[in-house]
Amino acid sequence: MAKPIVYVARRLPDVAVRMLSGECEIRQHQGELPPTRDELLAGVARCTGILSLLSDRIDAEVMDAAGPQLKVISNFAVGYNNIDIEEARRRGIAVGNTPDVLTDATADIAIALLLAVARRLPQAAADARQGRWKTWEPLGWLGIDLQDRTLGIVGMGRIGAATAQRMHGGWGTRILYTSRQPKPEVDARFNARHVPLETLLEQSDFVSLHVPLDGSTRHLIGREQLRRMQRHSILINTARGEIVDQDALYEALRQGQIFGAGLDVTTPEPLPPDHPLYQLDNCLILPHIGSATDKARNAMAERAAANLLAGMRGQPLPFPVVQPPVEAGPSTERNGG
Ligand code: DGY
Repeated sequence: MAKPIVYVARRLPDVAVRMLSGECEIRQHQGELPPTRDELLAGVARCTGILSLLSDRIDAEVMDAAGPQLKVISNFAVGYNNIDIEEARRRGIAVGNTPDVLTDATADIAIALLLAVARRLPQAAADARQGRWKTWEPLGWLGIDLQDRTLGIVGMGRIGAATAQRMHGGWGTRILYTSRQPKPEVDARFNARHVPLETLLEQSDFVSLHVPLDGSTRHLIGREQLRRMQRHSILINTARGEIVDQDALYEALRQGQIFGAGLDVTTPEPLPPDHPLYQLDNCLILPHIGSATDKARNAMAERAAANLLAGMRGQPLPFPVVQPPVEAGPSTERNGG
């Protein structure tokens, strides 16, 4: 019997192909860049499974292009805003993601961004390299201390909690947070306080974003929210670019309304090199490297392949976002952050 076909949208750590090759015919996009829309639509034809990346928009058109035998979409990411979840649910297509295994790597990048912006590392390093380091400067490259500060975590999920743990454990930072419900275990662990977003913005020295992107979080941080932040405060975003109104952020940074921003995610991605945000000394931009460690990416590949295999076999996904009722009882949904 012919093996079911899976479309793999990019080259991934070897473990994914090793796990899939016994049971599937693998159709893998080989380019360094994501498949174009046409390549994606052609690539998924007759597939039973799709292994997608956060840069691949998987919507009704793609599901139609795959055909009625499509059983599972497995995202190589914890976030799944690139997938039309309602459409998949309506069609009875399982959707999986890769939670937990990138939590530490992403929290580390949030802290790295915070330290780098607070101590103005990009400017200092550029000045050293470009010959502007003339002497030890009593008044040069002055940054912000981390001691005796308050960190506001917007979205106290796995990555938010790992970021809070690093700051609270390392610098004794006070923790404020938002989440749908207060989390007593978080309050106890970090001596944290659940507060409305407005309070968090007004009372935090540092604000780190960890909510999933959906209709309720797009531009959650805009002009009005930035105005509430303190002049010495720093905004960190390792979640999704669209959570921040980037034009409003540019203005706030340019006018010195906040001290700085560290962004691992932007709108769009990649952010074009001539984007005005790159011109600002107080904004550090990384190319979405939160999960970019060997360990995290290998584990993500294993989870993505395990989801794909389970979905193709008609078994419950080990890491489900949408689990069709016909396969495994009532549908369940898990938070992407
Ligand atoms: C995710 O998994 O959603 C991350 O953004 C990828 O690093």
